[in-house]
Amino acid sequence: MTDIQKDRVLIFDTTLRDGEQSPGATMTHDEKLEIAELLDDMGVDIIEAGFPIASEGDFRAVSEIAERSKNSVICGLARAQLPDIDRCAEAVKKSARPRIHTFIGTSPLHRAIPNLTQDEMAERIHETVTHARNLVDNVQWSPMDATRTEWDYLCRVVEIAIKAGATTINIPDTVGYTAPVESADLIKRLIETVPGADEIVFATHCHNDLGMATANALAAVAGGARQIECTINGLGERAGNTALEEVVMALKVRGDIMPYTTGIDTKKIMHISRRVSTVSGFVVQPNKAIVGKNAFAHESGIHQDGMLKNAETFEIMRPEDVGISGTSLPLGKHSGRAALRAKLKDLGVDVGDNQLKDIFVRFKDLADRKKEVFDDDILALVSTTGEGEEHLKLVNLKVVCGTGGQAEAELEMEINGDDVTAICKGDGPVDATFKAVRDLHPNKAKLQLYQVQAVTAGTDAQATVSVKLEEDGVISTGQSADTDTVVASAKAYIQALNRLIVRREKVGPGVDTKEISYRDVT
Ligand code: KIV
Ligand code: ZN
Repeated sequence: MTDIQKDRVLIFDTTLRDGEQSPGATMTHDEKLEIAELLDDMGVDIIEAGFPIASEGDFRAVSEIAERSKNSVICGLARAQLPDIDRCAEAVKKSARPRIHTFIGTSPLHRAIPNLTQDEMAERIHETVTHARNLVDNVQWSPMDATRTEWDYLCRVVEIAIKAGATTINIPDTVGYTAPVESADLIKRLIETVPGADEIVFATHCHNDLGMATANALAAVAGGARQIECTINGLGERAGNTALEEVVMALKVRGDIMPYTTGIDTKKIMHISRRVSTVSGFVVQPNKAIVGKNAFAHESGIHQDGMLKNAETFEIMRPEDVGISGTSLPLGKHSGRAALRAKLKDLGVDVGDNQLKDIFVRFKDLADRKKEVFDDDILALVSTTGEGEEHLKLVNLKVVCGTGGQAEAELEMEINGDDVTAICKGDGPVDATFKAVRDLHPNKAKLQLYQVQAVTAGTDAQATVSVKLEEDGVISTGQSADTDTVVASAKAYIQALNRLIVRREKVGPGVDTKEISYRDVT
């Protein structure tokens, strides 16, 4: 093994190839270029940019990424067929560091598909890897479904690929079947057994069908692999691939037992995670390790109290290390007095002990009834007059909508005691209604969230509408329920605007109240 392989693990990102193979995760050309740029910039060693023979679009994306990338090796995927490999070479040729990744399914089940005997397949591997190596210096070869391939045959084909010039041998656990002990053992035995294995890099490519992809990848590194194949957010076929953010942070946090480094700038993790989630349309589950919304959020009183005293009580890594500005202590029914006081301070409200006691009782009562307690709920609790004066009131709403034209809303409101009416058209009844509200009460609040939820089943169900507005960094929410979704929408929107007005009166503009950071309050 060369020096660099001893403690440096190469990160091979396949978000744009295996990740894009997730049903429904297709990205546009420009989105692929953007993600590739972010991967390059964050220090990914090898970007698998696509499967050039698969489509004209894939070919274009791989060639443009190859041309633009600054540091990463740009790799394209090719089946064990000469035209695939030629097309791949053509696509990656503009990269300063091109790689061809060619593969063939070597397990009995996969050999049966092209109906090749072991000898015929061995011959095909020799021919295709040799061909690829004649086109580029950097060739990766994968025996697909390696973890279900007979041991002797696996050793034989890996040896053939090495002799034919492969510089990286990837061992895919294509169906996510392997367990960590096997993953480590397989790589270790291959390195010990196959002639020439110490001259090349072994890679691990794990799928997450049994939820073991990250564990298997790290175990493979312990066994001697020095390239991890992974995707942002664990995107990929079926249950996905090893998540880049998980392996990279595991190596960083547990360097004591896994003394390997990567070239990843971990502070860029959160941004790329959000972009991949947006462009792929795959929402990240809130409790997803590292990049989930709750990964650095603590709700229970004991945890919040601990966090306010010493972050290490409940955090093994700093949110800043993955690009999040601070820990979030969302208030809910499990929160304690310390967190409430910290939140009030963050909102610019100083209260004495007695007042805090009183607010805390009302806060617990509210939190029992409400899933999430927002900043403006807290401010409403502080105010002795509850929500405060209602500057804007809905008086009447009539909407005409349907096929054959734009929707029209006729809205009557009371604004600071005056009765006013507006008629507006829009793309649908809600848009027309919100336009009418803005016509009567011009404002620059941006609609950040509009969500409708049916509370009960049936066409007469009560709909709960939630609206989130943002104005100069200040967030305000409104929620309303009605059997008429448009009426609920109007009421929720007006409530959010009212709260924004009250908020402006209480704390002034420009107070960043989006998230509470324990670092800001200690
Ligand atoms: O999962 C797999 O086996 C693959 C190969 C193409 C490497 O993605
Ligand atoms: Zn795969």
